[in-house]
Order: sequence, then C-alpha cells, then structure tokens
Amino acid sequence: MKSLRNMAAMIRNQIDTAARHRLRFQKRTIMKRKLFYALVIALVVIAAYAAARKTQLGSCVAYALGGFREVSVERSERFLGKVADEDTARCRGGEEAVTWRSTPWIDWQKYWAAGGDESRVKGLASHFGLLSPDRLGINGAILDLEYQRIELLKFNLFDSAGTFEEYIRGRNGAGGRTLKGWPQMRLPKSHPAYAGVGGDGPQKCAGELIRFRNLTGICNDVFNPLMGSTDQPFARNVEFDTTFPDLGLNEIVKNRHGNRIGLLTPDPQVISRKLFTRAQSSARKCNDGQGLPEYSTEANCDYQKADTLNVLAAFWIQFMTHDWFSHLDEGHNQSELEPMGCSAHRINNVEQPLTPDEIEQLRCRPDDRIDKSYIAQDSAPNSFTYQGKQYLTRAPKTTLNRVTAWWDASQIYGYNEISQQRVKRDPRDPAKLMLEPFEGSVQDRMGYLPVLEASDPMNPQWAGQESVAFPDNWSVGLSLFHHVFAREHNLFVDAFRKKAQATPEMDSGLRNPAAPETVIKYKDVTARELFEVARLVIAAEIAKIHTVEWTTQLLYNEPLYLATNANWSGLAGKYPTVAAALEKVLKHFRKSDNGQKNADWYSAFATGPGIFGLGNHSKDINAGVNHFGSPFNFPEEFVTVYRLHPMVPDLIEFRELHGDPNVIRYKIPVTATLRGRATQMMRRYGIANWTLSMGRQRLGKLTLLNHPLFLQNLSLPRLKSATGKIDVLALDIIRDRERGVPRYNEFRRQYGLKQLTSFDDFIDPNLPKDSPQRAEQQRIAGLLREVYGQHKCDAGKGITKAQLNDNKSKINDCLDHPDHSTVDNIEDVDTVVGWLAESARPHGFAISETQFQVFILNASRRLFSDRFFTSSFRPEFYTHLGIKWVNENGPDGIMMEKTKVNGHEGEVSPLKRALLRTIPELSPELNRVVNVFDPWARDRGEYYSLQWKPRKGAESDVAFKER
Ligand code: HEM
Repeated sequence: MKSLRNMAAMIRNQIDTAARHRLRFQKRTIMKRKLFYALVIALVVIAAYAAARKTQLGSCVAYALGGFREVSVERSERFLGKVADEDTARCRGGEEAVTWRSTPWIDWQKYWAAGGDESRVKGLASHFGLLSPDRLGINGAILDLEYQRIELLKFNLFDSAGTFEEYIRGRNGAGGRTLKGWPQMRLPKSHPAYAGVGGDGPQKCAGELIRFRNLTGICNDVFNPLMGSTDQPFARNVEFDTTFPDLGLNEIVKNRHGNRIGLLTPDPQVISRKLFTRAQSSARKCNDGQGLPEYSTEANCDYQKADTLNVLAAFWIQFMTHDWFSHLDEGHNQSELEPMGCSAHRINNVEQPLTPDEIEQLRCRPDDRIDKSYIAQDSAPNSFTYQGKQYLTRAPKTTLNRVTAWWDASQIYGYNEISQQRVKRDPRDPAKLMLEPFEGSVQDRMGYLPVLEASDPMNPQWAGQESVAFPDNWSVGLSLFHHVFAREHNLFVDAFRKKAQATPEMDSGLRNPAAPETVIKYKDVTARELFEVARLVIAAEIAKIHTVEWTTQLLYNEPLYLATNANWSGLAGKYPTVAAALEKVLKHFRKSDNGQKNADWYSAFATGPGIFGLGNHSKDINAGVNHFGSPFNFPEEFVTVYRLHPMVPDLIEFRELHGDPNVIRYKIPVTATLRGRATQMMRRYGIANWTLSMGRQRLGKLTLLNHPLFLQNLSLPRLKSATGKIDVLALDIIRDRERGVPRYNEFRRQYGLKQLTSFDDFIDPNLPKDSPQRAEQQRIAGLLREVYGQHKCDAGKGITKAQLNDNKSKINDCLDHPDHSTVDNIEDVDTVVGWLAESARPHGFAISETQFQVFILNASRRLFSDRFFTSSFRPEFYTHLGIKWVNENGPDGIMMEKTKVNGHEGEVSPLKRALLRTIPELSPELNRVVNVFDPWARDRGEYYSLQWKPRKGAESDVAFKER
C-alpha cells in the first residue's frame, strides 16, 4: 500500500500541473525564491525556538520526520483518535496532550488552540505562522479528524439492501469500495416510474425524473434510482454480527454479555428513573413538568443548562431528524402492544422483581404499553466466506426508513403521496405554500400555516395542528421552523417573480433535459417548476444552516469551525486555483478502480474544494457524487445518537418583544404546546415572541440525570393502554434494543474509539480529586454500577473482533483487569446511556465524542452522496437566482458581520438572514446575534468563550442570575 506521503507528493504534482497553465514562468521563479527565503527564515526561527523550548521542538522535529501515518489495512489496527507516539502529542499540545494519551478519550481535544483562549500559546511562538504551536495544534486536530473520516468510510459501511457481499468481494476485478451502481438500487417492476427509467434494461433516470427532487426521493443518483428513497432499509455502521446482541447469536456476543441483557433487561423504566430523571429543588414548582396555573413565573423545573446553545437548537435538530429518518408510519408502529418494563431491578447483582413500594418510590408504571417496532426482515440472514473470513449479508433483522434519506426538506414537502396531501399550496399562486392571515391578538403579514382538515390524511392525535408533511411529535418548536421555511419558500417565489417581471426575457438558468439547449427565460418558468426550484433552494439553505451555523455552535471550537466549513465550502475556498486543481484530482480519483484512491484519497482531498458543489462544472450532472461503494442511507446507529431528548426543557421561559425582552413573562410548559395546542399557542402569542423566547433560553445539557420530566409522563391516548401514557426515555432504550444497536463499549470499538474498562472511566480526568463535580460523577458511576451490575470475569473469553489490546492480544471479558476479578458490566451499558455519561468532551462540545464519531461519517456522506448538493448544484436545476440565494444567504448579496468572530471575518449567518426576512420584527434583537443557536443575550467573549454572562443591554435578564 502506498503511503500517504506518496499521496501528498502526487497531489502536489497534480496541483502543479493544473496551475502551470495559469502561472507565468517568471512569477514561479519569484515564488520559488520567496519560498526559499521563507524556509530559511523558518529554520532560523525554529533554531531560536529550539533553544527556548527544547523538548517540544525536539518532539515536533521527530513528528515531522515521522511523516504521515498509514491508513490502516486491518479493522483492528485503525486509528483510534490516539496518536501513535508522545512526540506527536507533545508537538501538538505539550505535556497535557502527552498525559491525556493514557485516557480513552480522543487526543486532539488537548491540542494547542483546540480549546478556549487558555489553550492558545501567547508570545513570540504565536508569530511562527504554520509552525506556531496553535497552528500545529489545529492542523493536527484536523488531520486526526480526517484520518477518522477516512477509516470510518473504510470500515463502517454496511448496507442492508443486499449489496454487502459485492462490497466485500468487488465486481469484475473492481474493488467493492469503488462500485457506483447496484442492481438492488433499480426500481422494481411495480414502481410507476419503472418504464421511465429503462424497465428491464439498464436503468438510468432521465427527463422529468432528473429535474427536481422527486417526492419519494427516487433518481437522486441517476444510475441508482431507488437509492435513498422512502421505505428503503436503514443501513448499519457496525458489523452485522455485532447487531442484536441480546439474541446471543454467536460465541463472541455470548462471551461479551453473558446472558445478562434482553429487550427489558436491565429494566428500561428503571434506567429512566434512576439515570435520566432531572432532580428538582421543588417538586411543587415543577409539577412533573406541568408548571403552575396561569403559566406563573413562580414555576420552576430545574435542569442542567448548556451555556452555548439555545432552545431553538433543540427544535432545529428535531426538525432535521424528521427530514432524514423515521421508523414510524403515519405516527404509529405495529398494532400489537408490548410492555415497557417497571418490573425488575438489580439488587446485589441479581435481577429481582420490583415490589409495589419500590414501584411507588421509583414512580414508574408497570402498565405502560407501547406499539411494537416495525421490522422489515427477520429471517436468518445468509452468510458468505471471503478470504477466510465469514460475513453475514445483513443484520438478523432490518427496519425501513419511512421517509427519504435525502436532505430534501421532506418534512415540509412530503415523502410519499399521503404526506404530500398535507402540503397545502396557495390556490392564488401554486408555486407558493399556503399561509393564511390570522386575525388574532398578534398579527403579522406573512401569515400562518393552515390547520389539518378532517379530509386530510391524519392520525387522530394530530387533530387541530398545522398541516405539514411530517406532523408527528409536534410542538410549538417544530411549528416555528415549519413557519420560517414556508415563509422563506414564498419569499423566494416572490423574489423570482419580481425578477421575472423586471427581466422577463432573461435566461433564468433553468433547463429542461428534454431540450437542454433551449434557454428558459424568466417569464417562461411555470408555477410547477418554480415550486420545485424553491424546494431545491430551501433544502440547500437548510443544509447550509445546519452545516455552517448549527454544527459550529454545537461543536464550539476552532478545529470544528474549520472542519465543518471545509465540508461546505472547502479549506481552499479562498484560493480558487487550488480548489479547481483539487477538483480535477478528485475527478481522477473517482474514476479509479482502486479503493484507496476512490475512497480514502477522495475523502481527504475533498476538504480542499469542499463537498458542496463538487463536480458542478462537469458535463455529467451525476459526476460529483461518491457513495464509497455502499448505497447511501442512514444507519440505525445514527438514530441512536440523535435521541437528544435531554435538550428539551420542561418549561419555556416566555418573553415578549414589545415589552422588555429581558423579562420572563410566563413559564409555559412544553406540554401546553404539544400537538394541536402548538397551533393555538403559535397564533395566540405570535412567532416573533416564541422565537425570541427560545433564542434567549438555554437548552438542556446532554448528560445523565437531565431528561425532561414531561417526557417520562407523556400522554399518548392513541395507544388505548391502561395508563394512556408512556415514558419516552424508557422507549429510547427499548427501541434501540429492538433495532439491535450494539451496546456502548462495542459500539465505540466498532466506530474506532477506545473502549472503557469500568464505570469509573466515565469520570472526567480533568477534574481535581476533591472537586464537587468529581464527587457527583463518582456518585453517577455508582448509579451505573447499581443498574448494570458487575460480574466475575473470565480472561479466556474473547469479546470482540473489532480491536486488539495495545499489546496486540485479544480483548477479553476482563478488559485488562485480573482474571476472575469482579468487573463492571460496562459491556451491557445501553449506547444512549453511555454517550450521555461521557463527561470528558472536547471544548465547546454539546455532544459526546461517541456521538460525534457517528456524525463525522454520516454528516459527510449525506453531502457526498447527494447529486443536488454536488454536481447538480447548478443553474440548470436551481436557476441563477436559486444558486445566488444559497451561496449568498438570500437575494441581497453576501453581508458581513461588522466584527471578527473568533478571529474570522464572518458572513451574516444564513439563519439570521432567513429570520430577518421571515420575522422582520425580530431585527432589533437579531442585530446583536452572531449565531442564531447561541443564547441571544450571551456575551460571546473572546475565542470560543463558554462564559454565561450577559451582553450589554441584557444585564437585567434574570436568566443570567442563575447557573
Ligand atoms: C416536544 C418534544 C418531543 C416529543 C414530544 C418527542 C416524542 C418522541 C416520541 C413519542 C418518540 C418515540 C417514537 C417511537 O419510537 O414510537 C420519539 C422518538 C425520537 N425522538 Fe423525540 N420527542 C421530542 C423532542 C425530540 C428532540 C428535540 C429530538 C432531537 C433530535 C428528538 C429525537 C428523537 C429521535 C431521534 C427519535 C427516534 C425516531 C425514530 O425511531 O425514527 N425528539 N420522540
């Protein structure tokens, strides 16, 4: 295998070749001379620096001479986010980074400048440019992240639709990772578009089928019409034989869990009550999340708050997940009901039935019932052998993604014919969505979404709420974002019509594949075409907001700011020549039959030009997608890490724009804003006030003991069970078990992260020995021990194939502890519990590193695989105005923030621009906001500050009086 060093040399050559046409000979000579001088100066500086900081420089030189590490060949040898030697760690982060290597957590969080201001190196060293410790730290972090992505793409793709065997074996001499088309992605005979894509012959989407995002998501990839469409199976990111561990289907799984786990073992409601419940200083004031009469501000539900994310961010991500995946069909599962636990707990390591007193004390409900998960296939999967290894062709059971997997705004526009019926169009202009004026106490001119009518396809529990394609688990938060983007859709249509009126004869950019040479003038764009263009624009705008605004605030540090922006616009975005040269290289890689080039190198070099718009200068509208050998769909494991229920507070601190926004007027329970009541609340108090309120309030930290109480007691009358309620948090555990998500420790090993060896590993190593936080974390480790228990280990039992111990021996049941000693049942921890328990996180990370690892892979893939975000992001589909709208965050050109943000010149963010257009009343508040997901009245301080301090003008805001 060629090393990455060769690869770097190759890319340098490629860039040189591409750039040669543009650079004059003389210029190059001058450049070379400059480079030479720069090198000499750098060496002098290094020498001086060496005198001052011998150890670190020595390490940096050693690290530089060591070159790039190889991408691993074997799964068990992959990069685990831990650098190979002390020199690398010291060079990138000093002694702290060296010490950190002995923890299970990823190294880069300790690199220079990867934290807050205190992580930056001040003084002379900060002027060394690329050789300054800060740059070494940040670039080191980005390199680590890229290795993770490359190896995740290499080791973690497991398609459930029947393509896996070819992925392993390859086809006709081409490596499996280079495959680009699959028979399983053909439309079946029964599909209405079957003939349109070529029927029995080679299938290729054409004509009307390729123009826009199709309702069910077919024909995104022109050659794989079925990929990502509604009702395709969820993929997996973990080896099939590690799924469904409670079925004990193989020896290793049996060794790992020793018959200790099942669908209801450990008991999910006991887990919810003991490990998830938010402790309250006054049970009366919280009232199980229901607050007090008349929404009195005397009400209070304590919750642990994240200082750098607001409640808008919580509902935003729920709004996103409704676009990406759903296991439910029209808001329900199978008709058969199943118990949800509250029946047993572990005493002295033995499962024992709960007594009535214990049930009362725990406040769980044995009579709760839930509808069973849908399962698509549960027959025993076939297996095959390749190069001496045995594989399953799929997981023992599969489930379907009931919406399109594409980032296509299907929660707004629909994903099948039923959901589409709820999408109301404006009869006066069918290019628009229906928004009606509302004559209530609050009025604004852009109108509100219409309510579901009796004739609409509807689950009875949705009665009275706004009519949208995906109406489940509706609340005022979802209502808010649906309104924003329905209004934005209509604003785009207005802007387009205005342009058409002003310049009717001008080329709109749009083309019809039936007559690709024919210019479509602005005046000739039909209402249907305009509706579909607006959908493309809204979907891309949402993807951009999510990538450059939501994610950068969720992962609030410099490496992630650069990495996520690199996903969108590329690290070389400011250097078009380099970006163009890299695009050429990528084109070459993509054609290669070699998996290393086609996948590893492709992923690495895509960070140059960025993924968005990749290949959109090519003639081939499909040329920019890369599925890395495995058809795109989200994996089951992705759903697991999006179970973000702790983000939701129990009470919303309601403020009014036209009074004093620093004053909390009411405390409105989220339960009073659910389903049909969301609609009433939205109209009664107005979208501007709701946005202000959720913009100012902090969301709940993703940690144990911090789930909303109202979700433990959610009324779900549709089930007709004895209690009429469910504990959604217990359901989070049950659903993951029903869908065979491996338990936490194996989950980490599968994703290329270090395992834990006891519950004490969850305690943050940064904390001083005598700190109250450490004492609390020790208490939580004790709770985990109480719930999951311990056992006498057997070193003779191997428990995983995914990794080896550092000394290359097999990982066994004792996890490094002496044989026959008592060890924690860390292997049994449910994945959601595990990632919530992680307390050592990179600076500004609202999520844990385990969740993040899942995002690295899938957040990139949903861009890499989507034609409309890569090679079909072009005027022929989006129109000129559409491209401008997405690239420039609206119709009025790029706008820049007046001050630098964390050292960067920053554009006014895309969601801020959208809110200023769709809820203009908010402008006095929004003008002071930089990132819409950062609590609006927080003083953002310097360099990724996490402080909870009011900005100027918000000193009287009571929210800043509490931690
Ligand atoms: C008012 C707030 C919310 C309510 C009432 C609510 C309710 C529910 C319920 C009842 C389920 C279970 C469905 C089932 O499996 O039968 C569920 C699943 C889920 N929720 Fe929430 N939820 C809320 C907020 C959120 C938020 C903020 C997120 C953040 C992403 C979220 C993410 C999820 C995910 C990922 C699932 C699994 C979906 C699937 O299986 O396909 N929820 N929620």
